Amino acid sequence: MRWIVSEVPIDEAGEVAALANRAYRGEGGGWTNEAHLVKGPRTSVDGIREMMAARGRFFAAREHGVGPMRAAVFLEQRDGAYYVGMLSVEPALQDQRLGRTMMQYCESFAQENRVARLTLTVLESRDALEAWYTRQGYRATGATVPLLHGNGRQLRVLEKDLRG
Ligand SMILES: CC(C)(COP(=O)(O)OP(=O)(O)OC[C@H]1O[C@@H](n2cnc3c(N)ncnc32)[C@H](O)[C@@H]1OP(=O)(O)O)[C@@H](O)C(=O)NCCC(=O)NCCS
Repeated sequence: MRWIVSEVPIDEAGEVAALANRAYRGEGGGWTNEAHLVKGPRTSVDGIREMMAARGRFFAAREHGVGPMRAAVFLEQRDGAYYVGMLSVEPALQDQRLGRTMMQYCESFAQENRVARLTLTVLESRDALEAWYTRQGYRATGATVPLLHGNGRQLRVLEKDLRG
């Protein structure tokens, strides 16, 4: 198997922050880059550490389990579901199914932990990204939450029931 996914220890928070910033708002492109929509870095080392300490767990993919972190995702148990957050794939490796691999990992993880629902949020107007989640079985709930420091921008809440 090319991609091995494992839990990220807290001393690798910096690697997660750098990857997330490159994926969301870096200069290296990527089909979902949001640098034109939201200014500034997506996160920070302290932000990632805080998420790990107080909220949930990060998981990351490395090629054959070694070398640089190429993808990462956050999972947090909330209201009987797992919230999937900060999904990030190295821009140069996007559109090669690594994003789907991470989403499938989240589903397997939830099922192993007897949780049957996944939720996530997508920034409004990121239609191609929402369509990608829709093709994976996610549905808009109709709920929105404000984007932190987002000048009034809203995040759309999506969910998937793993029982089909
Ligand atoms: C979203 C993200 C994780 C996807 O990762 P990825 O490795 O590119 O995903 P995959 O290769 O598995 O899938 C790419 C999909 O995009 C589609 N795609 C590629 N280029 C596209 C484009 N320009 N417009 C629309 N769709 C496109 C592909 O057809 C493919 O769809 P399919 O899986 O239904 O066949 C990645 O783009 C990323 O890190 N984005 C920045 C951070 C982010 O926005 N995270 C999500 C926040 S909700």
